[in-house]
Amino acid sequence: MVLYFTGTGNSRFIARKLGDLLGDSIYSIGDDLRNGRTGHFTQESTLVFVVPTYMSRMPPKVEKYIQDSDFLGCGCAYFVFSAAQAVGNAEKYCKRLCDKKNLIYMGTAAVKSPANYVVMYDVLPKSKAEQEMERSIPAMEKLADQMRHHSMIKLDDSFGGHKPFSVLAPAILKMASAKDFHVSDACISCGSCERVCPLGNVSLQNGKPVWGAKCTHCMGCISVCPPKAIDYGKKTQDRNRYYLP
Ligand SMILES: Cc1cc2nc3c(=O)[nH]c(=O)nc-3n(C[C@H](O)[C@H](O)[C@H](O)COP(=O)(O)O)c2cc1C
Repeated sequence: MVLYFTGTGNSRFIARKLGDLLGDSIYSIGDDLRNGRTGHFTQESTLVFVVPTYMSRMPPKVEKYIQDSDFLGCGCAYFVFSAAQAVGNAEKYCKRLCDKKNLIYMGTAAVKSPANYVVMYDVLPKSKAEQEMERSIPAMEKLADQMRHHSMIKLDDSFGGHKPFSVLAPAILKMASAKDFHVSDACISCGSCERVCPLGNVSLQNGKPVWGAKCTHCMGCISVCPPKAIDYGKKTQDRNRYYLP
């Protein structure tokens, strides 16, 4: 089973591709988190977790979800990070998770993906983001091949930077807040922002999005909005957005 969490679609793209190549089902961790559920998995011989990289680590909410979920009779676990640049020491924490959950650790790898943190920097327009994701398909094929042969996977050295962030990530991301998100009159009340939020933190009130207190800065709401009606403070006004469906 391939389990994924996504903000802007990159990890879902990778999960779908790996699912296709492995002939395995895919499972959305976001659907569980949105509904306040943990996971209950039984007798899965191989679990593949596909996650975005947040400050050189798995998103803390996903790490907690894995910690709180049951994996009765499950066997091996692979971790695939959708990463724009670096995953630091992320693998150390994946190994630790496996020890806690009695899963056999089969390694961590990263797949080069378009950067999505639009509140921090400009991102690619959608067509270029799609092209960048597609350029990484050979890397996904290689991973699927290794998984099919039950081989360990390994992080490419080029993704090893930013190690100090890994330890700081949970504290920094605890400060992530939705309070600077706002919506303009261009909003068409389509509800896309509400639908894509993997934490169920956005709801439409009088046809306009309102943000709650559970934001993890996944960038789903701001990126999916068709008329670009959502901004974060003033920083994002002139920046691109992309969301991979
Ligand atoms: C809060 C946040 C922190 C991020 N930190 C990193 C990072 O440390 N290293 C990295 O390579 N990419 C980082 N990124 C970029 C995303 O990991 C990357 O774009 C990923 O492909 C997004 O996947 P998704 O579309 O499935 O959410 C960060 C993005 C966000 C929103």
